[in-house]
Amino acid sequence: MTSTASHDFGTLPFKDLLSLAQLSREHIDKIFATAAELKKNRELHDQVLKGKKLAMIFEKDSLRTRFTFDVGMQDMGGHAVFMDHRDARIGSRESIKDVAKNLERWFHGIVARTFKHRVLTELSEHSSVPVINGLSDYLHPCQALADTFTLHEKWGGDFKGKKIVFVGDGNNTCHSLIHAAARLGMHMVVCCPEGYEPNSKVVNEAMHIAQETGGDVDITDDVEKGVAKADAVYTDVWASMGQEDEVEERAAVFHDYQVNEDLMELAKPDAFFMHCLPAHRGHEVSAAVMDGPQSIVYDIAENRLHVQKAVMALLINK
Ligand code: CP
Ligand code: NVA
Repeated sequence: MTSTASHDFGTLPFKDLLSLAQLSREHIDKIFATAAELKKNRELHDQVLKGKKLAMIFEKDSLRTRFTFDVGMQDMGGHAVFMDHRDARIGSRESIKDVAKNLERWFHGIVARTFKHRVLTELSEHSSVPVINGLSDYLHPCQALADTFTLHEKWGGDFKGKKIVFVGDGNNTCHSLIHAAARLGMHMVVCCPEGYEPNSKVVNEAMHIAQETGGDVDITDDVEKGVAKADAVYTDVWASMGQEDEVEERAAVFHDYQVNEDLMELAKPDAFFMHCLPAHRGHEVSAAVMDGPQSIVYDIAENRLHVQKAVMALLINK
């Protein structure tokens, strides 16, 4: 993509970004190319979403998602308005349909972070403006786009034959990473204790995608075997937001699933350590790995900004 100030990045042929299962390789390539240009020439593209307004409704805490969507809108000449929904779930004061029907009259796009994924699909059904998933209990697509965009930068775009291993809970972050890895033709391995496997619908969708792309998806409780010769090792918190009452129980169940220096020794010497953040040193990751030379966690966090700007430029700027 050449650097121009024309702001014409084109569009994606769908309204919302709720799941990466819906994305073709061409869609991902377009998001990555747009993100790369927005990153390279950040100052040049300050009119892409001129005058556009983004509603951000969050039922849960956030550092990265909240700030990167807000700053992303500001970077491109738009504006974001945040509504803190931590005290009352979306739909409790008035129906989700009515929330959507109001927001579409004032805003050009909606980012929502919800407990129930169903709230996002309902917002999407009733809203004529794009709805972007800022994390649900089921999926975290913007995270996985930033994760794989970062690997794209590090590996020069070459995903074929790469082994990415997620160690821990088969959660929202894991689910979206599975979708992305399958679409990019990677060998995805999830190492988790019995009972904490990723959702079978996600795994089936990914296996279907992987048949087309030459990728593969494996689930194992054998963490050492799983991590062997990995090109990237990923982990996330053992108890996600909404699972606070399971913290102790999960700490016991996941005790042997910490990503530490001994485990990283089994991966390839140039393997990357990845985490969506927030991280808990001494729990799912040791401080030495989190802060060590293989860690790319802050590169990923930076790329949340560029990738989400690309998603907004391609969805909202129609
Ligand atoms: N990784 C991520 O989504 O971070 P926040 O919860 O801080 O938004
Ligand atoms: N799995 C974590 C991700 C946080 C970004 C959670 O849902 O809390």
